Amino acid sequence: MVNALGKLKDLYQNTLLIIIEPTEGPILQIQGKFLETLRARLSIAEVVGEKVKLTRKGREFMGLCPFHHEKTPSFTVNEEKEFYHCFGCGAHGDAIGFLMEAQKYSFMEAVKELASRVGLSLPEETSEKGGTSQEDLTPLRQVLQEASAWFHNNLFLARYSESLRYAERRSLKTETLKKFNIGFAPEGSSPLEKYLKTKGFSDEILLAAGLLAQGETTRPPYERFRKRLMFPIQDAQGRVVAFGGRLLDKGEPKYLNSPETPLFSKGKLLYGYYQAKEKANTEPLIVVEGYMDVISLHQAGFKGAVAPLGTALTEDQIVLAWRLSPEPILCFDGDGAGLKAAARAAERVLPLLKPGYSLRFAILPQGEDPDSLVQKGDRFQMVLNQAHSLVDALWLFLTHGKNFKTPEQKAALQKQCALWTQGIQDGEIKKHYHYAFKDLFYKNIVGKKANIQSLSPLRKTNLNLSSIYEHLLLAILINHPILLDEASDDLASLEFKEPKLHDLRNGILHFYAAGPLDEMNLKDYLLKQGFEKELDDIFSSRVLIHGAFASPSSSFEGAREGWKEIFNRIQHGLGKKDLQEAQEHLAEEMSEEAWHRLKALKKTTLLQY
Ligand code: UTP
Ligand code: MN
Repeated sequence: MVNALGKLKDLYQNTLLIIIEPTEGPILQIQGKFLETLRARLSIAEVVGEKVKLTRKGREFMGLCPFHHEKTPSFTVNEEKEFYHCFGCGAHGDAIGFLMEAQKYSFMEAVKELASRVGLSLPEETSEKGGTSQEDLTPLRQVLQEASAWFHNNLFLARYSESLRYAERRSLKTETLKKFNIGFAPEGSSPLEKYLKTKGFSDEILLAAGLLAQGETTRPPYERFRKRLMFPIQDAQGRVVAFGGRLLDKGEPKYLNSPETPLFSKGKLLYGYYQAKEKANTEPLIVVEGYMDVISLHQAGFKGAVAPLGTALTEDQIVLAWRLSPEPILCFDGDGAGLKAAARAAERVLPLLKPGYSLRFAILPQGEDPDSLVQKGDRFQMVLNQAHSLVDALWLFLTHGKNFKTPEQKAALQKQCALWTQGIQDGEIKKHYHYAFKDLFYKNIVGKKANIQSLSPLRKTNLNLSSIYEHLLLAILINHPILLDEASDDLASLEFKEPKLHDLRNGILHFYAAGPLDEMNLKDYLLKQGFEKELDDIFSSRVLIHGAFASPSSSFEGAREGWKEIFNRIQHGLGKKDLQEAQEHLAEEMSEEAWHRLKALKKTTLLQY
């Protein structure tokens, strides 16, 4: 990202660069020359130094890399060349890139921030949306900030003690109330309006900020938020741009938001984004439904929680979430409506997918929301652990609880999968979805389900461990041939102890090398090659009982994890076992041959691990 931008900037140094900004208005234009001036005036060491402790080493500065964990510094900043570079993880970029990567700014936000630091004003044609200039927005920002401080202060006043009692009833701690600046809007004869007027704000500003609302008639405007717990909504820089308010008592509407204003567009922000941004490198990003869920999750230690603002997740919000995490986890209710919403979100993201970026789907138990779950121990973490990948979620939404027996039903299923696949813009991902759906179809619809009794740990059987591992590895690949794209080299490196399995392994590699995976089912191919007995063995329940991930009904991710785990165990575990045997052998028989054997084994196992 940073590198690409760097190149872009070099290429367009003296031309007009047009940046499309999803979060801050339509199109902003910046002169390449402007960026050059900006970079020249900046001290990159100063910018980086705000986040990383730097010490001077000759012409460069060194420090601990903020992009990966390290104990000895391999992160350098070069003032002359205006870039930072990490020899440990390869992170590289200029001051703008640093703000984008380390502080999660968008490109324009970084440019604006840095320009204001060195006293450069943005080029004339740059404007915020609707042509409103920066100055026009200042009073709006100020009045929202004042209102927010006033609401927050109210929460702790004796005369509004019902509000703090309500917050306590919802298990909110003082620390949390402060962190999110939660407040209280009382009812009464326009107390907020009176307060803000003493601060010099006019009716027009209060109306424009959405704090006052105008009825249909000619009656005077009234205060929008009355007797509500107030949640200030912040933009990516932490500035208050709107409010959400929840009624303390029962009533309608339960939640009320500020209207759209020049500062606030509800489909473009995520509640909690500013707080989640701080933890983006360490915490999973979790997208939930409501204000209370976000706050409760933060309080329970899930500091990557965010929520849309009363609407379904928009495309802009998905792109915004991707700034913090390549795979945000979306939480949905387990009821019919929740699953429908999840399916819509899954469909919406397809055209936006890019390599490495996706969504995950966590389905909540019926009747619970994240707020209620975190009040009950570690149940929310369990829900997160079971989150589905996008492809598995789509398949689940499409097939869950349904039968596909007739040719027409099967065709309809395939058609929907094809439609989804076509909706993907990225060519590489499209190809992989094509195979993944085909795979799922053959495993779950055409092929019969394996008899998996449970996810039980290894049990005593008449098969020995290495033999079980060999069978499991082959089962995983036969059920998920798409894994061969990444696992074929590892497969080829393995020595199978059973000669027939070794041959079968070669058969799989041959099939893979021969061409497109979808032309013929791998299993059919192996049957034709005469491996019927081996396949029966591999798919017998006494093998599959050891790993549900090897079954045809397991998810692709599950299969992949299973493959890695078993492959590691074969290399690692068996390596160690051989070592132990050699040691015992040496103890029994102090021969030179035994000693050499041990030495040779030590060398290879050490080299590998
Ligand atoms: P929910 O009705 O699921 O409420 O609304 P909740 O988050 O569980 O809140 P509590 O626990 O009852 O306090 C989820 C989100 O939908 C929007 C709000 O953004 C809310 O956070 N919403 C809900 C509204 O905008 N208006 C409403 O009347 C209700
Ligand atoms: Mn709730």
